[in-house]
Amino acid sequence: MKIDSSKLIRAAAKAREGAVAPYSKFKVGAALLTKAGDIIGGANVESASYGLTCCAERVALFKALTGGETNFVAVAVVARAPGGPMPCGACRQLLAEYAPAARIWVADSRDLKSPREFSVRELLPQAFVIIP
Ligand code: THU
Repeated sequence: MKIDSSKLIRAAAKAREGAVAPYSKFKVGAALLTKAGDIIGGANVESASYGLTCCAERVALFKALTGGETNFVAVAVVARAPGGPMPCGACRQLLAEYAPAARIWVADSRDLKSPREFSVRELLPQAFVIIP
C-alpha cells in the first residue's frame, strides 16, 4: 500500500491542537494510520504530578487500541522541534509491541513538508517482549 505521509502528518499537526501541556508548553501531536485507512489522533496530556504525563504517541495508541484497532501501518508525530520530535523510550516500547511494522514520520510543526522517516526496529532494537 502506498502511504500518504503528508496526510498523516497534517492529521498529527491537527491532533496537536488538542495538547494539554500547561507545564512544559511543549505541544505534541500524533496520528496513527490503520491498514483499513482510518486515522486516529492524540496529543500529550500533562499532570501537576509531572510523572503522570502521557505522551501524544501513547494517547493516540491507547485511543486506537481501546477502539478495537490492531493493525497499524504508520504513525506521524509533530512538535515544534528541529527535524521533528523523536518518540521517547516509553513510546518506542509501546510502538514495538502494538505497531511493530509501522513507519514512523516525525516533523517540525513549522515545516511539515520535511519529515524524517524511521522504522520501529530502528528506534528500538532488541525490544523487550514476553514469550508466552
Ligand atoms: N512528549 C510527547 O508527547 N512525546 C514524546 O515522545 C516525548 C515527550 C511530551 C511529554 C510532555 O508533555 C512534553 O512532551 C515535554 O516532555
